[in-house]
Amino acid sequence: MTSDPMTSDPMTSDPVVPQSLPGIGGTALGVALIRALESTRPDRLFDDPYARHFIRAADKHASPWGAGGSPAVEQFLSMMADQVAVRTLYLDRALLDAARQGCGQVVLVACGMDARAYRLPWPPGTALFELDLAHVLDFKNAVLDRLGATATCHRVGVATDLRQDWLPALAASGFDPDRPTAWLAEGILYALSSDAAGTLLDRITIASALGSVLALDHAEDSELLRAARAAISAELVELWQGGPVARLDGWLAARGWRPDVTDIAQAAAACGRPTPSAFDPNRPDAGRAWLATARLGGTR
Ligand SMILES: C[S@@+](CC[C@H](N)C(=O)[O-])C[C@H]1O[C@@H](n2cnc3c(N)ncnc32)[C@H](O)[C@@H]1O
Repeated sequence: MTSDPMTSDPMTSDPVVPQSLPGIGGTALGVALIRALESTRPDRLFDDPYARHFIRAADKHASPWGAGGSPAVEQFLSMMADQVAVRTLYLDRALLDAARQGCGQVVLVACGMDARAYRLPWPPGTALFELDLAHVLDFKNAVLDRLGATATCHRVGVATDLRQDWLPALAASGFDPDRPTAWLAEGILYALSSDAAGTLLDRITIASALGSVLALDHAEDSELLRAARAAISAELVELWQGGPVARLDGWLAARGWRPDVTDIAQAAAACGRPTPSAFDPNRPDAGRAWLATARLGGTR
């Protein structure tokens, strides 16, 4: 790690009482740490001024990401940083394009510390729903409230466990399945079994009006990534369940989505970034990773 996301802070805030974010929820801090570091780069692909505050609020004794400095964490981050940076920019663009083309609702599935409700210029009237576990949303809201942050859309948090049927909770929060929606499934498919990933896509499809857009990323596990995670914690090894086993284009098309899938190496090259080592097709111990957008029915 070459820079400290806690310094050069352009936003003022009081120190918050450190909180822990156990289990799968803690992975959201790993992503926030990468976004905080990316935001300090002169050649950054995006600026997320909120990410560093989530890291600062995390209990560094309870989270490897809060500490942000162990050699094992640095090794893992060096493998993942460009994947997260490139996917963030790609998905920012995909969601904004969809919103500008008529998706007045946005749903961030497993939102974690995603600050798009605050940092992107949404068209007026956009409603944005954030789905995640209750304790993750509580942590996030505490940090944002402390900052006095103002969303650039109508933001609604929906505390839910994605392993259950979350559609009633989403509808009760004001979501309208008859309006086209821009969905985001970022950093979540890998943490689901193949069946659970299929169920997630089925529920998204059921709740999608024609013209809805789904943006997502997916990453294969590999010998390289497993070893890097094992050096941090056994829990982190177990959290990776693999997600869809089918090719993403076929997986999406089978449910009526018209997919456009890009390999992360190609997307990184388009941003002037190297292929992330964990997804380098020239390494036998690495896997592959993809970015995708898909539209339900209609023309692209
Ligand atoms: C790696 S983080 C990605 C967060 C965010 N999408 C991003 O890219 O910044 C994974 C997120 O999935 C959430 N998650 C995992 N399993 C979940 C479940 N069963 N129900 C709700 N959220 C879940 C975690 O709480 C965490 O916030």
